[in-house]
Amino acid sequence: MGFFITFEGGEGTGKSTQSKLLAEHLKQQNKDVIQTREPGGSPGAELIRNLLVTGSADRWAPMSEVLLMYAARADHWQNLIQPALKENKWVICDRFADSSTAYQGYGRGLDLSFLNTLYKNTIGSEKPHRTYIFDLDPKIGLERSHRRLEETHHAMIEGRFESLGLDFHERARVGFLKIAQEDPMRCKIIDASLSPHNIQKIIWEDIKNLF
Ligand code: TMP
Repeated sequence: MGFFITFEGGEGTGKSTQSKLLAEHLKQQNKDVIQTREPGGSPGAELIRNLLVTGSADRWAPMSEVLLMYAARADHWQNLIQPALKENKWVICDRFADSSTAYQGYGRGLDLSFLNTLYKNTIGSEKPHRTYIFDLDPKIGLERSHRRLEETHHAMIEGRFESLGLDFHERARVGFLKIAQEDPMRCKIIDASLSPHNIQKIIWEDIKNLF
């Protein structure tokens, strides 16, 4: 069995950059590493991602949205993550099921026990070995994220969740913190207002101690 590490948190928290840095660091230590993301990560799931992250905020009702997230996750899990873990690889994933709990559960108001049922039926009993939850005031995170989307001209393409409003992102933040509180052995909260260099050091140190 390999190691499964997930990066979670709100928009513009720097978690994608850090997940890539960790993957590079592990590769330099000759580990067999796969760096991936959700929604997406496998060819089928990337097609579904496109439906989820584009268009207007009200394009999908919360239930349709979470079913699409889990349709993508089931494909990603079966075709990429699970086989890689069986081959003893490290899988570094930018977002996973905690994002559904925080965004569609806490943010959009779906029943948390229903989301657990979806998890059990798509993933089973396996969980990430470590989850880093990047915590930041959503006002700052959304500003960063909007700036980046504009710079890369992605605003019209991938900005659907960014346009869901501050209240939604504040509820999702509370959700992520609750998840961390309820599963402290798996989750580590990262103060995303720290410098990227310091965050990198905290994560590498943690990984060294864990494995
Ligand atoms: P990304 O910007 O981190 O690539 O993710 C795309 C958006 O999808 C992001 O705004 C968070 C959202 N999302 C959910 O709402 N639920 C989920 O389960 C996942 C994986 C992502």
